[in-house]
Amino acid sequence: MKRIAYVLLLSILGPGVVAQDSLRYWADKLDKYIGSSVEDYFFLNDFWTMTSRTYHKIMIGQFNMIVAGNEMKFDATEPQRNLFSFTKGDIMMEYAGTWGMATRGHCLLWHNQLPGWITAGLTDGVDNGLYSRDTLLAILENHITTLVTHWKGKVREWDVVNEVFDGDGTLRESIWQQVIGDDYIDSAFVWAHRADPDALLFLLDYGAEGLNSKSHGIYAKVQELLGKGIPIHGVGMQCHLTTNDINFYSIESNVKRLTDLGLLVCFTEVDIKIPADEFSTDVALQRQAREYGQLLSIFLNCEQCPSFVMWAFSDNDSWIPDHTAGTYGQACIYNLKYQPKPAYYALLDTLRAHNGVNVGLNTAASNPFSIVPTLVDDHFIVTSETGSPEFTTAVITDMAGRQIVKLKEITAGEPVYVSALGKGTYVLTVTDRNDNHYLMKFLKK
Ligand code: XIL
Repeated sequence: MKRIAYVLLLSILGPGVVAQDSLRYWADKLDKYIGSSVEDYFFLNDFWTMTSRTYHKIMIGQFNMIVAGNEMKFDATEPQRNLFSFTKGDIMMEYAGTWGMATRGHCLLWHNQLPGWITAGLTDGVDNGLYSRDTLLAILENHITTLVTHWKGKVREWDVVNEVFDGDGTLRESIWQQVIGDDYIDSAFVWAHRADPDALLFLLDYGAEGLNSKSHGIYAKVQELLGKGIPIHGVGMQCHLTTNDINFYSIESNVKRLTDLGLLVCFTEVDIKIPADEFSTDVALQRQAREYGQLLSIFLNCEQCPSFVMWAFSDNDSWIPDHTAGTYGQACIYNLKYQPKPAYYALLDTLRAHNGVNVGLNTAASNPFSIVPTLVDDHFIVTSETGSPEFTTAVITDMAGRQIVKLKEITAGEPVYVSALGKGTYVLTVTDRNDNHYLMKFLKK
């Protein structure tokens, strides 16, 4: 039945639906996963309206990974004790199989979106004695074992424990923590691993992307888990970020210290929200685009970072306006009408650049003079079609914004040698005497 629906969908969308020069096209070449969460709209299963066609065309054409935003959470999958509902998760798995996408499973344990029969164990947030430690352990073991077994072999990465830390780096006082004690985390990973030894298991949180009290707590915890032989494979950084308030150095350092432990790091719920008073302004959209590109570059430069997943791909489906009572929004890479925003093109360009395609960041229209920087191995040449522009400087920065090379007095047509560049992507900025800039993103192999 479902299979027929997908065949139908394919005939509506057309055979070229997995697009060339798309996010997934370039990500596939790099063996990386780029994905999006799906929620209500996806599960309508109405393939007939234009919006719906556009939606699926983007989902299938641009992404090679998918995650359910709500439908595999505790309240959705075990609404009554030991009565399980897999329908929506199954629909997503079927879709992923049909369109060749990997999946993330979100999430086995959280303090939110729990069914009433579990939250009945708390009164005003405090354990009321309804469940003993043994009972709650048995409930958790049953939940985790049942879900992971049901989707065995279909989920690449499971979010095992979600948001279990407080801002100060100590463990959150959830029902799990209060009734069972801190070792509920160890048990959750062990049960998930027993049920599907091939699935990759993650601990994830928000507000712990960079170096801060929470991420220090997480770092200490994962070291402890690894030391005890608990089967944890990685840390998820949710990355619900705010434009103009992102410290990329700090994120990069945190990714590095975690991967140095041998762990994987995934960016699992990326969105970059814009404050309402900046909505739709060029400045904000361009800045957001740069930030998306920078974040993706940190991910692409990291060998132990397999997945970059956004929390909805369109502003029409984003949770941010609701979550922030309308004070923020426009956090995704497509707008309300499913048109790609500058942020989409920034991701595309960043992926192209990591594939060795030299990407000019200025369009001809916005570039006041005409130069073509050509990067060949250890040098580049700036040429001009309009005679001899007078350049002052050329600066090369890495994707975190660090200045690596600064060169003065560039002459058109003459090779400029740059050494000291390690592998990775960089931005070259050439400036003329009138302070016009030309930017280009490039890959040093
Ligand atoms: C959000 C969903 O997107 C919303 O639809 C729902 O109302 C609330 O939860 N961190 C998480 C996700 O781990 O599960 C949350 O998803 C967003 C924050």
